[in-house]
Amino acid sequence: MNAHLEIVNKILSADKTDSIPPQKMAGSSDSSVYLANGKIYRLGNVVAITADQKLYAEFSQAGCLDIFPNILRTIRYDSTMVIEMEYVGKKTIEEMLLSFDGQEKEFERLNLINLKILALINKFFLITVDSKNSQSDKVEAYQELLVALRLNLEKAAMFDDVALELLDRLEKNSDVFMADMKLSKIHKDLSVGNIVIGPDDEPRLIDPRTAIPNLQVGSVWGNPAFDLVGYQISLLRKEAELKKKNPAISFKRLIKNTDLAIQQGISAKRFNQSIVELCQAVWYSIYCACSCDYCLSKERVWLYQDMKKGLAMKLETLSELLRL
Ligand SMILES: Nc1ncnc2c1ncn2[C@@H]1O[C@H](COP(=O)(O)OP(=O)(O)OP(=O)(O)O)[C@@H](O)[C@H]1O
Ligand SMILES: [Mg+2]
Repeated sequence: MNAHLEIVNKILSADKTDSIPPQKMAGSSDSSVYLANGKIYRLGNVVAITADQKLYAEFSQAGCLDIFPNILRTIRYDSTMVIEMEYVGKKTIEEMLLSFDGQEKEFERLNLINLKILALINKFFLITVDSKNSQSDKVEAYQELLVALRLNLEKAAMFDDVALELLDRLEKNSDVFMADMKLSKIHKDLSVGNIVIGPDDEPRLIDPRTAIPNLQVGSVWGNPAFDLVGYQISLLRKEAELKKKNPAISFKRLIKNTDLAIQQGISAKRFNQSIVELCQAVWYSIYCACSCDYCLSKERVWLYQDMKKGLAMKLETLSELLRL
């Protein structure tokens, strides 16, 4: 039996619960997620799980109680740490989208859930917005985007002289992107796979990150455009995947409403159009740099090519924007 499963079984027997066998939800050799006894157990090395625990504690102290699952306790077994958390729902919005059969009634339900997700992201911003909004924190959050873009371009073998010049200009013209930039806590890995839909179709965000995917360290603060764009691009990806099987399927309305939420963020001066473009480039670069089995599978080479095209287009837009 693998070590993580053994630990979950130890916890269950210490609790004297006659539970059905733990169900594996996700995992690699480093970390795994199990559902057991009506709770979620996330297991991993002490450093990674302590970072997760701190993040959840910070969100909970800030008052984000119905945005993320509640953390019930953390338990340490030698070099493995376990977070026991509230089980907030059976399906992610990704699973709901993938099982969508084109029925109008189900589409109306998805549309309402999408609006609730956008409202939740808005609430997350309002609860955690940084009243200080200091220049040095803004610079740090902006730098995180640039570091991620550079690293992902390198990983995707797309880092050339043109990209180098663009990054240099992005660095020098930070004021173009930081005008109107408000800081708040953000999820940093918001995609359809990290949103669980609970009873009454209420969404909750799971699996937040301390840094943008692929980075080891990140800024304490972020800008909400990054989460909105991450969510939107993951919707576009799911739509493209489903269209391959059934060309009649369209998530146009969901995507349009996400666009409206982005436009509202611009009107409310939480971020400007330029940083939205930069966040889009960073998100495409994350997918281009990803080497997980899902992204690399042969049947989805076309999706990887789509991400490369998306990234190339965004780099072009940013270059145009900076031809000052
Ligand atoms: N609190 C929770 N309530 C309900 N389901 C959860 C919860 N946490 C995790 N899950 C389920 O477990 C899956 C994996 O969890 P999570 O996203 O935290 O792990 P992960 O390591 O990022 O996995 P993946 O790479 O698949 O996203 C989720 O897709 C979801 O189905
Ligand atoms: Mg996840």
